[in-house]
Amino acid sequence: MRILIVGVGALGGTIATRGINASVPIWLATRSAQSAAVLRSSGLRVSGVGGPAEVRSVRSAAVEEYATADKFDLIVLATKAHDALEIGPFLARLLAPRGTLLCIQNGGVSQMLSERLGDRVVLGGLSNLGATMVEPGVYEQRNAGHLLIGEVAGGISDRAMNVAEALRPAIEMRVTANLAGAIWSKLLLNCSVTTIGALANQTMRGYMASAAGQQVFHRTYDETLSVALATGTRPERMIVDPVPPEGDRAPWIDQILATYGDIKPSMLQDFERGRRTEIDFINGYATELGRKVGVGVAMNAAITAMAHRIEAGEIRPDPARLDDLLRQAG
Ligand SMILES: NC(=O)c1ccc[n+]([C@@H]2O[C@H](COP(=O)([O-])OP(=O)(O)OC[C@H]3O[C@@H](n4cnc5c(N)ncnc54)[C@H](OP(=O)(O)O)[C@@H]3O)[C@@H](O)[C@H]2O)c1
Repeated sequence: MRILIVGVGALGGTIATRGINASVPIWLATRSAQSAAVLRSSGLRVSGVGGPAEVRSVRSAAVEEYATADKFDLIVLATKAHDALEIGPFLARLLAPRGTLLCIQNGGVSQMLSERLGDRVVLGGLSNLGATMVEPGVYEQRNAGHLLIGEVAGGISDRAMNVAEALRPAIEMRVTANLAGAIWSKLLLNCSVTTIGALANQTMRGYMASAAGQQVFHRTYDETLSVALATGTRPERMIVDPVPPEGDRAPWIDQILATYGDIKPSMLQDFERGRRTEIDFINGYATELGRKVGVGVAMNAAITAMAHRIEAGEIRPDPARLDDLLRQAG
């Protein structure tokens, strides 16, 4: 299977290094010819969980240059969400007949691209593997996570099994019949745990110590869950039951805290580096869908607007943002 990885950042670079090291036929597409040349001269290295791996020789080019190359059976789209939506239609033209475009972004990207390009082209996925890019060509794997893939419309298909088989030398692969449920389970935690921490400049354990933090968390989680259920999704169990218990939620919260309570939110790192966040595909996506299906999404809307104001440099992440959110969401 001829494979193209588009976006050689933290996740794409980690998968590429381990895959090429295991002799998987992988080509790399970067945004610019200059970035491609850097990778050809530096090679790729990964360290951390899973052990070190290194490849000296890589086939990399700017993504546009592949328009005249042989077609690919599989394209792994490993850019951030906004870039994925922009480049997705072009990538569909680089696919061989019956080729697959695999999207591994958080939130609604695979659903959105599937609506545009067709669900015979797009296969959805999400990553439980955490990775960072130290510099171009140098990556660190942070956990022993896996890539979970599946048909956007649900069910198990031969092509999902074949894609999993092709990528297994690079990364642990799992296939689900309920991709939408898995995506929403992750989205429930992204919308609440990660985003609120980023706005408040705190870990989840930090903001859950305040009454305002608890209120914002529960309102966001409950709104997002209502949207998921109203769209007919059955969120899957990840680290906790996606539906909180009736009555005392403290043990359920403790389970989330045990896994995520002390992690610095990745969106906070985006704020600190002045990078565009994926907010429109996380709380923004929940807001948009909630409005479509008639579910109240005032807190998700307030969170999305606040994240945009931080991106624009108008305000800063701070614990005071929690009270602001309660006022703005009404
Ligand atoms: N990293 C993780 O641990 C992790 C875990 C779970 C999910 N995810 C999700 O996986 C996705 C990728 O995350 P990441 O952390 O790997 O991001 P990242 O480190 O920012 O890497 C994205 C890469 O895509 C490149 N790119 C952007 N537009 C492109 C284009 N048109 N053609 C070719 N390359 C392009 C970027 O290049 P430039 O630098 O030139 O823009 C960058 O190298 C995100 O949706 C993220 O939410 C990541």
